[in-house]
Amino acid sequence: MTSVPIRLAGASKTFRRDGQTTEALSPIDIDIAPGEFFAVVGPSGCGKSTLLKMIAGLVPASTGTVAVAGNAVEEPVTDLGIVFQSPVLLDWRTVLGNVLVQLELRGLYASAYEPAARRLLEAVGLKGFEDRYPFELSGGMRQRAAIVRALIHDPPLLLMDEPFGALDALTREQLRLDLEALWLARRKTVVFITHSIDEAVLLADRVAVMSPRPGRIERLLTIDLPRPRALVARQLPGFTEVVEEVTRLFLERGVLQTTGKLAVELGPQS
Ligand SMILES: Nc1ncnc2c1ncn2[C@@H]1O[C@H](COP(=O)(O)OP(=O)(O)O)[C@@H](O)[C@H]1O
Ligand SMILES: [Mg+2]
Repeated sequence: MTSVPIRLAGASKTFRRDGQTTEALSPIDIDIAPGEFFAVVGPSGCGKSTLLKMIAGLVPASTGTVAVAGNAVEEPVTDLGIVFQSPVLLDWRTVLGNVLVQLELRGLYASAYEPAARRLLEAVGLKGFEDRYPFELSGGMRQRAAIVRALIHDPPLLLMDEPFGALDALTREQLRLDLEALWLARRKTVVFITHSIDEAVLLADRVAVMSPRPGRIERLLTIDLPRPRALVARQLPGFTEVVEEVTRLFLERGVLQTTGKLAVELGPQS
């Protein structure tokens, strides 16, 4: 199997802790097709990470249902690769050891995957760092190691939570190109969360725009730009139109403001 469908029906999340309730997600209905690249953009705190964790079976839905590959999600889904918002690496293992742990956890023969792991690490710019420990890496390097760990077992489903957030702009652009090429070659189902409207539109088949908390899908946009989009798609009128539409929606919701609050707060120059 190379890819899987995802279905959320009335799936919502309310957190209850110490007598406090936080309505993180309003009921969500989405159908993601096998092999689809599905992006989610939305303001901080609108429930994007919660949505991803519900799909992964790491956070149970408060209402409604979540299904992956046609099966109701009731416990952590194992046949996937997941990149968390902040890279979760084992401090006591090297970069290579952190990648190979994915296979050990699955009862696979890890050393058989070592050459592939080294190639993937080289592909994300970590050649020469295979034997370093997480504390010796920058945040962006740790995140790249976590991305390799999510890919090494070639899963049919990739869940990525702002995977490029900690990267410098150039590395981010490169990894976006790499991810598009990988997706075109393997057609995995990808759910990709980002703050970047540009990144979402360049990568996705559909972009879900979320409202501020409690998050709901405010608009679902189909991105019809030809692939590979690589670097050229930014010049297409279709690209600018969609980016403008999402930006307008964020302006309407107060997620973006053109007035420049900082300047207002600082007042006139004395
Ligand atoms: N485990 C948790 N317990 C209580 N509240 C949580 C928990 N996880 C997230 N939240 C709250 O749910 C809301 C959505 O969080 P999150 O999904 O992380 O948003 P996003 O990823 O869009 O920034 C936030 O208000 C957050 O504080
Ligand atoms: Mg988040």
